[in-house]
Amino acid sequence: MNESSGIRSVQRVDARHRYEILVDGRRAGLAAHRDRGAQRVFFHTEVDDSFAGQGLGAELVQAALADVRESGKRIVPVCPYVAKFLKRHEEFADLTDPVTPDVLSWLEEELR
Ligand SMILES: CC(C)(COP(=O)(O)OP(=O)(O)OC[C@H]1O[C@@H](n2cnc3c(N)ncnc32)[C@H](O)[C@@H]1OP(=O)(O)O)[C@@H](O)C(=O)NCCC(=O)NCCS
Repeated sequence: MNESSGIRSVQRVDARHRYEILVDGRRAGLAAHRDRGAQRVFFHTEVDDSFAGQGLGAELVQAALADVRESGKRIVPVCPYVAKFLKRHEEFADLTDPVTPDVLSWLEEELR
């Protein structure tokens, strides 16, 4: 059985500042963020090599951004994968803030 046919779910793990995608209960990828006021700043997305290229990254980011909308927050796409996703999904344009030098220096401090 191909691993992509497993049961997928996305959960927000606040304690680790990230969303995780699980396949049959096993963590297959994550989208890491930090919150800057109402802005949820996404800075890194990864999918395990064994699950790559099956659309899991897109599914994870789709669910994460839908959760941002539900939470009344805004998206800042520092992660290039999230930025690319947003170019193809204009439904999130109203929620998206630009990546500014201020955000980048704030993020650097946060991750130090
Ligand atoms: C980027 C990543 C999360 C994609 O996960 P995935 O489940 O394979 O993604 P999907 O199957 O949903 O989508 C694959 C698409 O991601 C694109 N992609 C791969 N790496 C990318 C990157 N670094 N930046 C932007 N897009 C990327 C591929 O070109 C492909 O595009 P296509 O749809 O036009 O063919 C995964 O390849 C990964 O973990 N890479 C290593 C970490 C990384 O570079 N993260 C992104 C920057 S933080």
